[in-house]
Amino acid sequence: MAKIIGGITTSHIPAVGNAIANNLQDDPYWKPFFDGYPKIHDWLAEKKPDVVINIYNDHGLGFFLDQMPTFAIGAAHEYKNEDEGWGIPQLDPFPGAPELSWHIIEGMVEDEFDITSCQELPVDHGFVVPMQLFWPGAPHNKDLPRAIPVSANTVIHPIPTLNRALNFGKSMRKAVQSWPEDITVVVLGTGGLSHQLDGERAGFINHDFDRMCMEKIVDTPEELTKITRMELVEKAGAQGTEFLMWMMMRGALGKKVKLLTENYHIPISNTGAGTMLLECMDD
Ligand code: DHB
Ligand code: FE
Repeated sequence: MAKIIGGITTSHIPAVGNAIANNLQDDPYWKPFFDGYPKIHDWLAEKKPDVVINIYNDHGLGFFLDQMPTFAIGAAHEYKNEDEGWGIPQLDPFPGAPELSWHIIEGMVEDEFDITSCQELPVDHGFVVPMQLFWPGAPHNKDLPRAIPVSANTVIHPIPTLNRALNFGKSMRKAVQSWPEDITVVVLGTGGLSHQLDGERAGFINHDFDRMCMEKIVDTPEELTKITRMELVEKAGAQGTEFLMWMMMRGALGKKVKLLTENYHIPISNTGAGTMLLECMDD
């Protein structure tokens, strides 16, 4: 049986990709952010998961305003990265796990989640920057797991509710656990926390709201489902809706998790940057 061993969250800010490309990890601006990652590297080096399910929100590379699936799952042999204009060096393709992708899609559609299946999916900074953060040198890190990208709409309203996001993760967990092979899976929730990149509130960050989300997501994620989408935009900023990815990840981890490490730093670029490692305690 496939086993989900834990979940990891991170912001996916493109400027982080540039900092990595320029080796700025020890620079005074970047150090407090990059200091959140060594404990996660140690955990990954010990656990060596076989597959990573990377839950991110496409920002207009894989899908654009004309076609925007609410929930999409990659089912490709590999995932190409493209130049989005942020100046991040383009990376080589990331190997996929299409058999498990299809198994998850089948299980979730059976469970009445309407999934867009993607046999081709270019992956943007929301997918790639976290892979580089967790597996330095990716995709050429020897421990890099095979990847399954999962994207949810945070671009065009109506976006999913927080409750739907949590339930998506729960359904995904059931589908993964029904895979017969004994493999281990780690789930990423990328994006957030509070940020707004444009409009009158450009630069908006909400420390207290971010910290509350980081606290509640550990043991009481159901409480966070009471936040309406309007409230989420008000309190976290227009792009703070990326917190939905964290809720999807959390749903996939089962009831009980143990917080192994966390880091929060503001601002990194325009964002309240949160990093958490949650180990699964349920079977
Ligand atoms: C930034 C953050 C994001 O989540 C994103 O997708 C692009 C830019 C930023 O803070 O610069
Ligand atoms: Fe983003």
